[in-house]
Amino acid sequence: MNREQMEVMIPAEEIEKRIAELAAKISEDYRGHDLLLIGVLKGAVIFLSDLIRHLDIPVAIDFMAVSSYGADTTSSGVVRIQKDLEQSIKDKDVLIVEDIVDTGLTLSYLFENLASRNPRSLKVVTLLDKPERRKVEFNPDYCGFCIPDRFVIGYGLDFDENYRQLPDICVLNQ
Ligand code: IMP
Ligand code: MG
Repeated sequence: MNREQMEVMIPAEEIEKRIAELAAKISEDYRGHDLLLIGVLKGAVIFLSDLIRHLDIPVAIDFMAVSSYGADTTSSGVVRIQKDLEQSIKDKDVLIVEDIVDTGLTLSYLFENLASRNPRSLKVVTLLDKPERRKVEFNPDYCGFCIPDRFVIGYGLDFDENYRQLPDICVLNQ
């Protein structure tokens, strides 16, 4: 991997600070409730790991894996569940944890799918949001950073399964 091909968009220290703020807000909003976080594999793994360590309320975690058919850096809108939850979410307070909302197609599908399982409440936290790219209306309840329409890597986000381990969120200059 060549450092010259990438440019830091959000440095690690800034990500950490923002996650602490998000976690404080989430802890406050869910105080007195048992929260179930659902991480969307694989991109959200690092965000979820850092987020839970800043929460000061009881929390359980589970994961789902979804994939969209078609091109790799653009979503086709057809979403397939590759790994489902291990438990029922009926009557639970559920928070979906996602790395980035781009066209909104993945989360619109996932949100409807999970809503049909009758959770007590269902919300979404995303680390990043690219509102300019939306194809369907979707507004996350909590968002770390709104970013411009650039393809980003690092902190869990990949390009062709690479670069997820970068501590900063970077723009890949291709
Ligand atoms: P959406 O269905 O278009 O909102 O796509 C969301 C998914 O596309 C994310 O969960 C990412 O896996 C991927 N994605 C969208 N934009 C980027 C990006 O800039 N970098 C890396 N992955 C991205
Ligand atoms: Mg993802």
